[in-house]
Amino acid sequence: MKKVKKEDLDKLSYTDFVSLICEENRPSGGKFTIREIAKNSFITKDSKVLEIGCTNGFSSLEINKLTNCTVIGIDINENSVDNAKKRIAENGLDSSRISFEVGNAEELQFSDNEFDLIICGNAMSFVSNKSKAIEELKRVLKPNGFISIVPIWYKDIPDKNIIDKVNDELGFQINCTFEQDWNNYNKWNLELYYKKDYSFVKRAKADIERYVDNMIDNKPHLDIYNEEEKKVIKNRWERTMEVFNDNLSLTNFSIILLRKNLVKEEEELFIINQN
Ligand SMILES: C[S@@+](CC[C@H](N)C(=O)[O-])C[C@H]1O[C@@H](n2cnc3c(N)ncnc32)[C@H](O)[C@@H]1O
Repeated sequence: MKKVKKEDLDKLSYTDFVSLICEENRPSGGKFTIREIAKNSFITKDSKVLEIGCTNGFSSLEINKLTNCTVIGIDINENSVDNAKKRIAENGLDSSRISFEVGNAEELQFSDNEFDLIICGNAMSFVSNKSKAIEELKRVLKPNGFISIVPIWYKDIPDKNIIDKVNDELGFQINCTFEQDWNNYNKWNLELYYKKDYSFVKRAKADIERYVDNMIDNKPHLDIYNEEEKKVIKNRWERTMEVFNDNLSLTNFSIILLRKNLVKEEEELFIINQN
């Protein structure tokens, strides 16, 4: 990525900024979430996995490390895809089993019934036409294959003030969702196969400052920026992390697996109590 002028650093979109600093951009729950998805979707080294909105590659790299499955990560952000590609060799992974390409979830360049698992993380919140994207995911997913999503949802109606701040950081209007919004997949003909809910740990301001300092100071590719420019980069990321920290304390997230079940089953009456 070519050097961005100091005065433009704060004007970059959230996704361009994430690719500039090459931040991990984990799904909520990080490696724990990827392990749960891998275990509960039963993928093996023979499985073919697609990740939508892979950013700098975190989830695709991790799922390949865990299972040695074949994985393709796509993202509309070219710089993120370049970052992800570089990380294949850095992680000592086999490039015949993991690859990254620029792609749009709304128009996938893959054949019908190609993948055993499609990982979406929180990328669906960033996709403009979600219904179109879901139809595409279903098309390229094998019968009985899984789509995993990791949505973040509000516990109660949030204050407008915090939503405005999140929107300012992201550069687009977030869709405020609640738990019930993630319970009905009948409209897409997908079976809700697995769902587990988690909350976030709220971090202290000092933790955020330490994390930002360490992170930016340990990115050799950012050494093209002088100390003043690095300060601008740190300030922006710290501000974003503080807004996210406040926002996430109002939310929970779910790890969800949806199955492309071709047969509509009858309702189950005696369901288990999952406490
Ligand atoms: C929050 S990040 C995803 C982070 C992480 N991979 C996860 O699992 O939560 C959203 C990503 O989706 C990408 N994105 C947005 N619209 C997209 C689209 N239509 N198709 C593919 N990727 C898209 C963005 O460029 C960004 O890298």
